[in-house]
Amino acid sequence: MGTDRCAVSFLVFAGSLRDGSYNDRLARLAAKVAEKNGASTDVVCLSDFPAPLYDFDIEQSSGIPKGVTDFSERLKAADALIIASPEYNASMPGAVKNLIDWVSRIRPQPFNGKQALLLSASPSRAGGNRGLWSLRIPLEHLGTRVYPDMFSLAQAHKSFTDGTISDPTLQARFESTLGCFIDLVEAQKHYPEVRKQWIEFLGEHPDEMVDRIETSPALTG
Ligand code: FNR
Repeated sequence: MGTDRCAVSFLVFAGSLRDGSYNDRLARLAAKVAEKNGASTDVVCLSDFPAPLYDFDIEQSSGIPKGVTDFSERLKAADALIIASPEYNASMPGAVKNLIDWVSRIRPQPFNGKQALLLSASPSRAGGNRGLWSLRIPLEHLGTRVYPDMFSLAQAHKSFTDGTISDPTLQARFESTLGCFIDLVEAQKHYPEVRKQWIEFLGEHPDEMVDRIETSPALTG
């Protein structure tokens, strides 16, 4: 599997800070599957990128925290993102939103144009899927292409065996979702003629500092 693919790289992380996180397990499993498909992965921990709660006064007085610029460099180096995020109160964890808010202050804005796959794991029966719908919102707002399919692992406390998903049907679905996502990232990276000019702005002429403007070289010649 995967030997005839072109090279793509993924930044992979869990939206949980705790040791023994189920989402961290799922993120690492996703990295394993991506590598099996010929991709390279950079698996990181949120705790390696500390940042205070976003505060404009801190940004003005001290600039962007090192943890955030470090994360941003890792994000820029990757072709795409894979995030396994817990669901907290039907939404994303505050630590994840805080990092997104800080990173969104960097120019050029590093989430813009990245592809992302969202995963979740939870002991609940819904697997934390509602949290992923909330996570989509800031990412899509920032220009990330969030893959339509998502994967949520329910009953996560009893769903892993030896680092894989115990239910073979679910494991196969997990691998197939990842495989399709990798195909898309590969196509975007290596076949740029399929890119389209994409301009999004609300009513006024776009300003490169604040609006997302992408122009394919193929379209401008
Ligand atoms: C949770 N948990 C949770 N689970 C869920 O499926 N839906 C929810 O809305 C919530 N809400 C929630 C809020 C808070 C503050 C906590 C601490 C937990 C349970 C959560 O899914 C569980 O703790 C997971 O184990 C968290 O993911 P990690 O840390 O194992 O990756």
